[in-house]
Amino acid sequence: MLSGKAKLAGVIGWPVSHSKSPRLHGYWLEKHTIDGAYVPLAVKPDDLHAVVRGLVKAGFRGVNITVPHKENVMAVCDQISEQARRIGAVNTLVFHEDGSVHGMNTDGYGFLENLKQGPKSWHANSGPAVVLGAGGAARAVCAALLEAGAPEIHLLNRTVEKAEQVAKDLGSTVNVHSLTESAKWLPGAALLVNTTTLGMNGAEPLHLDLSPLAQTAVVTDIVYAPLETDLLKAAKARGNPTVDGLGMLLHQARPGFEAWFGVKPEVTPELRAFVLAEAP
Ligand code: ATR
Repeated sequence: MLSGKAKLAGVIGWPVSHSKSPRLHGYWLEKHTIDGAYVPLAVKPDDLHAVVRGLVKAGFRGVNITVPHKENVMAVCDQISEQARRIGAVNTLVFHEDGSVHGMNTDGYGFLENLKQGPKSWHANSGPAVVLGAGGAARAVCAALLEAGAPEIHLLNRTVEKAEQVAKDLGSTVNVHSLTESAKWLPGAALLVNTTTLGMNGAEPLHLDLSPLAQTAVVTDIVYAPLETDLLKAAKARGNPTVDGLGMLLHQARPGFEAWFGVKPEVTPELRAFVLAEAP
């Protein structure tokens, strides 16, 4: 039950009805018996600025930002974290008492935390990473890997120019190749990450020959619908350690929850099961 002092947060997207965040934050609010609420906010792109400023005025603690607002919301922020600036997108806003809006990006944090809870054999400095895709998710993944100490990243994308822009923004240890060149770069990889939408329910499949990949390389997919993508299935079948993408979604939510509600929440098997149990 909410009191008049309830702490308020939410997620802004367009559309937003697919978002798992209200269920996820709702679970933590209940678990920690916090006097607070986290609500879905369907906001059209043209209304983004006014809504964010309105939520500040209404006393919200902050919000998550999802598709298609992650880049545009940067113009509304008074401060932007170094990492969000490097990635070029913001997914979490924290509203300060003076009315200023602080933008962060926790996708890379979520990606790394998820990997850390996976196979013990993986460390950022275990060797080169092969990252497929060059969208916003790839930017967050690459920035996080570099910050964690990955020695080298091979970024493979269908549209090579897009990957070149990512490399330009992130630094010289990102090497750019075409998605068709995986056989050349998989042999030395300690980590393989799919950040493309290929393999997602309703999207085209990802055709990738894993035979050049060492069996010790960790394979992870940021696609979590289906939870076990064809890539993860194939990797598991040949003995590679795998990490599914749901954990990234759950972990990226933790810093926002802590900033708004004052408790650092945990990602547990129960939480995973609860989020997965939601009707599609
Ligand atoms: P996000 O921000 O979630 O990462 P995005 O910016 O739409 O999403 O990026 C989608 C990624 O999937 C891109 O790397 C895209 O490749 P292009 O840059 O060449 O568009 C990749 N992708 C999507 N559909 C693809 C397809 N049919 N074949 C190859 N790559 C595809």
